[in-house]
Amino acid sequence: MAGHDQEDLKSFRSSLKKDGLLHRREAGKMNDLIETILNHRSVRDFEDKPLSKEQIETIVKSAQAASTSSFIQAYSIIGVSDRSKKEKLAEVVGNQPYVANNGHFLVFCADLYRHSLIGEMEGSNVFPSIESTEKFMVSLIDAALAAQNAAIAAESMGLGICYIGGIRNNLEAVEEILKTPDYVIPLFGMAIGHPAKLNDKKPRLPMNHVYMENEYEQDPEVLKEQLNSYNELISAYYKERTGGTRADTWTGQMGQMLEKKSRMYMNDYVSKKKMNLR
Ligand SMILES: Cc1cc2nc3c(=O)[nH]c(=O)nc-3n(C[C@H](O)[C@H](O)[C@H](O)COP(=O)(O)O)c2cc1C
Repeated sequence: MAGHDQEDLKSFRSSLKKDGLLHRREAGKMNDLIETILNHRSVRDFEDKPLSKEQIETIVKSAQAASTSSFIQAYSIIGVSDRSKKEKLAEVVGNQPYVANNGHFLVFCADLYRHSLIGEMEGSNVFPSIESTEKFMVSLIDAALAAQNAAIAAESMGLGICYIGGIRNNLEAVEEILKTPDYVIPLFGMAIGHPAKLNDKKPRLPMNHVYMENEYEQDPEVLKEQLNSYNELISAYYKERTGGTRADTWTGQMGQMLEKKSRMYMNDYVSKKKMNLR
């Protein structure tokens, strides 16, 4: 191992020690990072207090530290600080006021635009690759990994976040506001800020429903039984939260949502941006 690798390893270990993570790292034990992750709930109500430059920098650098397929870094993050742009976006996403009222607003984009320029710089024909379904998927994966790192970094600083998929309600309008070129698709926003109100944590599917060992559990009867038991958990959660006025089940919610087609223009939009073509 090269000398500087050893030094990196030493400083990585000492940063873990400093944060108290190393000695609490044994399997199954809670540490501050895991506690932050497990405490997540979306925040939609923020104090009127902008994030500091340092906070934004830490969040963006954390996003950039995420793993990236073949080092391709196929995403960009657009921070929206301009009040009138934030207000326009809040309207475009279906009137979600926390898109305008927050500490900062980020838009995560799948981005192969800079890679299209590399073709010219290096004299290679990159287009069959960057226009492929595979590279489109890579850009989505990269952007999502970066975003979740940003979310965890923000939450670890005591900030709250809410992802905003409403961005995809009208990508033509978003493109107009953010000036995104071909090979770039805004995927979702993230409102970040100092929480003014905290929602309850929403109970996820029990772990044994989503974690399978060695092979996929396909038996519909097993899955339906699991779904029924999750429905009981979720309706108890809503009942408690709403003083009994709401007792939705999860399959009820999903059934209603999935019955409606949404954002069916997406296939055409993605092709228009020259992605997912081959
Ligand atoms: C990609 C993505 C898009 C989302 N879009 C929105 C949105 O437009 N508006 C909103 O209020 N919440 C949005 N959410 C938040 C989800 O509704 C929320 O994560 C989910 O209901 C679980 O609740 P929790 O985050 O509080 O645990 C989005 C989440 C993700 C991951």
